[in-house]
Amino acid sequence: MTSLDQRHVEPEILDHLEPDDPRAVASRRDLRLLNGLMGQVAIAAGLLRDHVPAPPRRLLEIGSGDGVFMLRVARRLHRRWPQVHVILLDRQDLVSHETRAAFEGLGWTVETVVADVFDWTAAASAPSQDVVAANLVLHHFSDDAIRLLFVRLAALTPILVATEPLRRPFALLASRSLRLVGTNAVTRHDAPVSVRAGFRAAELSALWPEAAAHGLIERRRGLFTHTFCAAMPTDGAARP
Ligand SMILES: C[S@@+](CC[C@H](N)C(=O)[O-])C[C@H]1O[C@@H](n2cnc3c(N)ncnc32)[C@H](O)[C@@H]1O
Repeated sequence: MTSLDQRHVEPEILDHLEPDDPRAVASRRDLRLLNGLMGQVAIAAGLLRDHVPAPPRRLLEIGSGDGVFMLRVARRLHRRWPQVHVILLDRQDLVSHETRAAFEGLGWTVETVVADVFDWTAAASAPSQDVVAANLVLHHFSDDAIRLLFVRLAALTPILVATEPLRRPFALLASRSLRLVGTNAVTRHDAPVSVRAGFRAAELSALWPEAAAHGLIERRRGLFTHTFCAAMPTDGAARP
């Protein structure tokens, strides 16, 4: 058995399947179920509500998948945040017309970016976002890669909110029991891999650039989720 003392980052099967592979389609459906069971939507919406001081004009989600996670967050926030321009960035082109229409029905405009987050953030160094969200994506990357990504994100946004897998024995046990809720073989492989690559304690704070290290809040929420919020000092102005 692998110790959970250290992170172990291994490839996840879903990342290497074509978007329309039936195993990938089923695994993304499982991911929507798991986001619900883990409470990711409620946790992320609560963090955004608590840490973003004024309604944002531009919200970037990195590793946004099919966009359904952020749509569910938007359903919780749209009355308080009426006119957000949401940018869904993922390596794969996964956002359906129905999901776009649902965002627009809430008064949010949607832009999709199909790109590697490291390439895209390297090219976008000027501050351009009011907030960046990451759900179940940072754990795909090594500590060195996260350190580099954090330097770039700190230049791009005053606030980062991340909701990631908690690296704890109970979470690992639960991730190995997903047969009970009917997930497919891809999800049953990727879930424990994600927990072993997840976070605990102040591991993400330690990777945040020191010069931007103001207002870091990192803690466990519930049984399965590790959260990180970085709020940089700002003049309070929204980004152009
Ligand atoms: C576990 S899924 C989470 C998707 C979404 N946040 C959600 O909660 O439904 C991780 C996503 O990160 C994306 N991803 C992984 N590495 C990436 C990279 N280097 N650049 C952009 N997206 C990436 C994958 O394509 C995948 O859609």
